[in-house]
Amino acid sequence: MTEHAADLERRHRAIRIWLYGIAVLVTLMVLLGGATRLTDSGLSIVEWKPVTGAIPPLSHEAWLEELEKYKQIPEYEQINKGFSLDEFKVIYYWEWGHRLFGRLIGLVFFVPLVWFWWKGWIGPGLRGRLVAIFLLGGLQGAIGWWMVASGLVNRVDVAQERLAVHLVMACFILIAIVWTARRTLPQPEPPDRRLRRTAVALIVLVTAQIFLGGLVAGLKAGLIYNTWPLMDGDLLPPFADLFSMAPAWVNLVENHLTVQFVHRIGAYLVVIVALTHAYDARSAASPIRTGAFVIAAITLAQVVIGIYTLIWVVPMWLALVHQGAAIVLLVACVVHAERANPARQPLQTGETAGTESSLSLEGEGYADPVNRS
Ligand code: HEM
Repeated sequence: MTEHAADLERRHRAIRIWLYGIAVLVTLMVLLGGATRLTDSGLSIVEWKPVTGAIPPLSHEAWLEELEKYKQIPEYEQINKGFSLDEFKVIYYWEWGHRLFGRLIGLVFFVPLVWFWWKGWIGPGLRGRLVAIFLLGGLQGAIGWWMVASGLVNRVDVAQERLAVHLVMACFILIAIVWTARRTLPQPEPPDRRLRRTAVALIVLVTAQIFLGGLVAGLKAGLIYNTWPLMDGDLLPPFADLFSMAPAWVNLVENHLTVQFVHRIGAYLVVIVALTHAYDARSAASPIRTGAFVIAAITLAQVVIGIYTLIWVVPMWLALVHQGAAIVLLVACVVHAERANPARQPLQTGETAGTESSLSLEGEGYADPVNRS
C-alpha cells in the first residue's frame, strides 16, 4: 500500500469509528427512551426548551415550580396525585436524562463533523449524507416534543402512533449512520439479485415491525392477551373483535387486540422472509451466507424474547431486552444489505482524495471483499 492510500484508509477508519460510536449512542438512546416510557416518566417535563432545558432545576424553589407545572396536566390529576417532590424528581430525571443524552449525541456528531470538514476529510459524496443525518437528529428532537405534547392534554399517556413514529425515526437515523459508515469500506462483489433484494426487504420489514412494536408498547397492548400462540383462545381472533371500532382503520392504531395481533403477524412474516433468505444464501460466498444465518438466528431469538415479554406481562427488564434485540436485528440487517448491495466504489474522503485517490485505491486491494473490516 502506498503512503497516500494508507493515509486515505486512516481517514476512512477515523470517520467509520466516529460513525459507529454515534450508532452505539443512538442505540443507548433508544433504550433510555424505552426505560423513560416504562417508568412512566415521559410527561414529567411539560415544556420544550432545546437549549436552556439542559440545566435541571437548581434550587428548591425551582423544583417546586417544575412540580407546579406538572400538577396542571391530567397525568398528575389521574395517576400521580399527591406525588412528593422526591417522587417527582425521579421521573423528572429520567426524562431530563433522555433529553440531555439527545443533546450529547448532537454534540458528539456536530463537533467532529466540523473538525473533519475543516481538515478536508469529508468528500462530496459524504457531505450531503452527513448533513442529512444531522438534520434528521434535529427533526427527531422536534418529533419527541410533538409526542410529549400529545400526552399533556385530555390523556395520561402519549399518543401511541407518535411514539411509534419517534421510535422509527431513531431507526432511520441508525440505518443512515450504519449504511454510510459501511459505504467507506472497500465494496465487494454483489451476490445474485434475489439475495440483494431480500436483504433490503428485511430492513423494510424489520423497521415496519419495530413501528408495530411501538404501537403495542404505546397502547400498553402487551398487558392483555398474555398467551401464545392463541389470543383469547383463538389462533385467529374473530373478525368482529378485530374490527370492532369504526372506521375500520382506527382498529390498527387503537384496538388493543388488533394492534397486538398485527405485531404477531408482522413477526411471523419477518421469520418467513429471514429463513427463506438464509436458505437462499446457503451456497453464497461466506460473508453473505454468514450474515443471512446470523439474521435468521437473531430473528428467532427476538421472537422467543417477544413471546416471553408477552406471557410474563411485560417485565421492564425483558421489555428493554426485546427493544434492544430489535435494534440489534435492524443493525445486522443494515450491515448485511449494504454488503449485498455494493456501490461501484467506496465513498471518498476529502478533496485531496478525489478521483486520483479512488484510482489509486483500486490498485490497493480496495475491490477485495476479504479486506472489509
Ligand atoms: C422480529 C420480531 C419482532 C420485533 C423486531 C419486535 C420489535 C418490537 C419493538 C421495537 C417493540 C417496542 C418496544 C418499546 O418501544 O419499548 C415491541 C414491543 C412488544 N412486542 Fe415485539 N417484536 C417482535 C416480535 C414479537 C413477538 C413474536 C411478540 C409476542 C408474540 C412480541 C411482543 C411484544 C410486546 C408484548 C411488546 C410491548 C412491550 C412493552 O410494552 O414494552 N414481539 N416489539
